[in-house]
Amino acid sequence: MSEFQNTILSEVRRRGRVTFAEFMKWALYHPIHGYYAAGGERRGRGGDFFTSVGTGGLFGRLLAESVTEMWDHLGSGRLTLVELGASDGGLAEQVLKALEGKGRAKGVSVHLVEKSGPAREAARRRLARFPRVHLWEDLDEMEHTAGVEGVVYSNEFFDALPVHRVRMESGALQEFFVVEKDGRLVEEAGEPSTPRLARCFEEQEVHLAEGQAAEVCPALEEVVEGIDRVLARGFVITVDYGEPSVDLYREDRRDGTLRTFRKHAVGGDPFQNIGEQDITAHVDFGRLAALGARGELDPLLFCSQGSYFLNSCEGLLRKVVEEEGKQDPSMSRRVQQLLHPEGMGGAFHVLVQGKNVGRPELSGGKANRLHRLVKMVNSPP
Ligand SMILES: C[S@@+](CC[C@H](N)C(=O)[O-])C[C@H]1O[C@@H](n2cnc3c(N)ncnc32)[C@H](O)[C@@H]1O
Repeated sequence: MSEFQNTILSEVRRRGRVTFAEFMKWALYHPIHGYYAAGGERRGRGGDFFTSVGTGGLFGRLLAESVTEMWDHLGSGRLTLVELGASDGGLAEQVLKALEGKGRAKGVSVHLVEKSGPAREAARRRLARFPRVHLWEDLDEMEHTAGVEGVVYSNEFFDALPVHRVRMESGALQEFFVVEKDGRLVEEAGEPSTPRLARCFEEQEVHLAEGQAAEVCPALEEVVEGIDRVLARGFVITVDYGEPSVDLYREDRRDGTLRTFRKHAVGGDPFQNIGEQDITAHVDFGRLAALGARGELDPLLFCSQGSYFLNSCEGLLRKVVEEEGKQDPSMSRRVQQLLHPEGMGGAFHVLVQGKNVGRPELSGGKANRLHRLVKMVNSPP
């Protein structure tokens, strides 16, 4: 057992029990040993998982198309980009290069928000040649920069936030706590640690079936409020694994969506290889949209990643497949990887929210499924 696993075990023993969210926070974000803080290779072939960022720059180019359309809509000479969970700056570099290629990089400043110190350091080195790049550990630190006009974007950021685990038992919500038993970490059900958990479901009109287990992320609320405080005018693009509340918590999904990733193998035991494997849970896009609408973030568009980029980047995709594909056959594979409905194109969704921008017709919204998301949001567009 590693030193870190022992540390967590002793802490759980000392406290009697902790919520799964506390455990997940330690496992991923403990300042020295946490999975993201420890600084090893996480993304890519030599790491534990692939993200869209590993498609040879294509994802950043697609995102830059959206950003440019939104910038045109804002009609301002300057643009601020904020990336949440920016990791080593790989995606920001792709976006900035693509904007350069379109002659649109001048006037752009970038704020990268990344909890992991080693990842921030890697981003600083990677983006050294770009002026006006700022790095932050936490979104709250940016609050004195209030008045951002631009686009806040993220890829696989929300699925890395700590979640609580719950189950419906005899008609009442129970929470799974992490306890120590015979020198091992195991789960034990009890009364929920906070009424917020039940509220997260009630507000989304979600009713878990008897015996159904699920994850819930109250931390979404603080993050969404933070975005709303930082952004004065502009758009929020969220790309992530996840679904509308009604689909995420559908009755036949009995055990939730918690998954671990280690050396590209998907697992389901978060108590193994603590600090050496990623832990994620799907994002409740319905809640994300509803929380935004509680403030000033209007939900504008929601659809699969595939249809979002097919609609917003038609011209670029044609160029990539028809022209660049001739020089580089891997291009069509990358397009497939990002857009195919049976792969990332279907499993990932895109939510676009707007603040003080009215109700623009965005090209990515031709297959808008916002109705599926916002039945409880007061004023859908
Ligand atoms: C799954 S990784 C995704 C990285 C990158 N966006 C990509 O697509 O490859 C999630 C990232 O979010 C960061 N993160 C998680 N919670 C955070 C928070 N509250 N503030 C800033 N960064 C956070 C993690 O450290 C990690 O680098």
